[in-house]
Amino acid sequence: MHSVIVEPPDTLTPPDSYAVSAEFYDVLQAQDDARRVRHLYGPAVAKARLGVVDVGAGTGRVTLMSLARSEVGVHAVEPARAMRAALMTRLAALPSTQRARVSVHPHTLGEAALHDVADLVVCHNTVACLSPAARRALWAAAGDALVPGGTLLLQLPPARLPVEDRHRVFPVQRMGRHEYGGRMVMSAAGPRIRTRVEYWVRGTQGLLRQHTETFWMWPATRSDLTADLRRHGFTVSSAHHDPAVLAVTLRQEA
Ligand SMILES: C[S@@+](CC[C@H](N)C(=O)[O-])C[C@H]1O[C@@H](n2cnc3c(N)ncnc32)[C@H](O)[C@@H]1O
Repeated sequence: MHSVIVEPPDTLTPPDSYAVSAEFYDVLQAQDDARRVRHLYGPAVAKARLGVVDVGAGTGRVTLMSLARSEVGVHAVEPARAMRAALMTRLAALPSTQRARVSVHPHTLGEAALHDVADLVVCHNTVACLSPAARRALWAAAGDALVPGGTLLLQLPPARLPVEDRHRVFPVQRMGRHEYGGRMVMSAAGPRIRTRVEYWVRGTQGLLRQHTETFWMWPATRSDLTADLRRHGFTVSSAHHDPAVLAVTLRQEA
């Protein structure tokens, strides 16, 4: 068994995590998540007139959807090398007209220092993995990246710590002679959620290999996040109706 535990970052830049998960991310999760991303952010992306920023772009689900559904420039912000490698491979295969519109930033949004480049910032499945300090840095950087009146859409983290361990099993996927599977176990660990992900590959003779990676999440309620975002110049927007997503707008200067 190959195990990796990614300790929570004590700086705002995360370590090079996802070294294990990147290999399994798309085969186990991509199809369902691509549908979800189109549903959650597709209409807002189609309305973008200046630019879209995808924070924590991972292997590129929101970035690719944004290139397909808009005509604007897209900024993919992804600090983890392993995830970025998968993202770059996907982007390299795109037609040159789409490649000309996408920029990849190998940093956090704050480190990328983007100013007034977008009218939409999307954080899909990213905010949960950020410590409170990293979230505050993100709100400030999103305010810089957006023009006044621009929208920030973020998938909400778990609202509270799990009372008991929560399990999520990834449906088994077949590829050639092999089957891929895995599961995620979320448990309370002090003020954080310890998320241990296990992956396995089976052949006709049985188990071929097994890996684990552990991540940390910080729970926060919608109202906690809203209060924090208000302090960074955002107001809640009523334009987005899915309960999984918080939509806020950068205040216009008076
Ligand atoms: C759970 S993955 C989600 C990836 C992608 N959004 C998706 O849903 O497929 C979270 C991503 O956020 C990235 N990330 C972590 N800290 C970040 C930060 N401070 N700024 C931007 N991205 C960050 C990680 O490297 C990782 O790729």
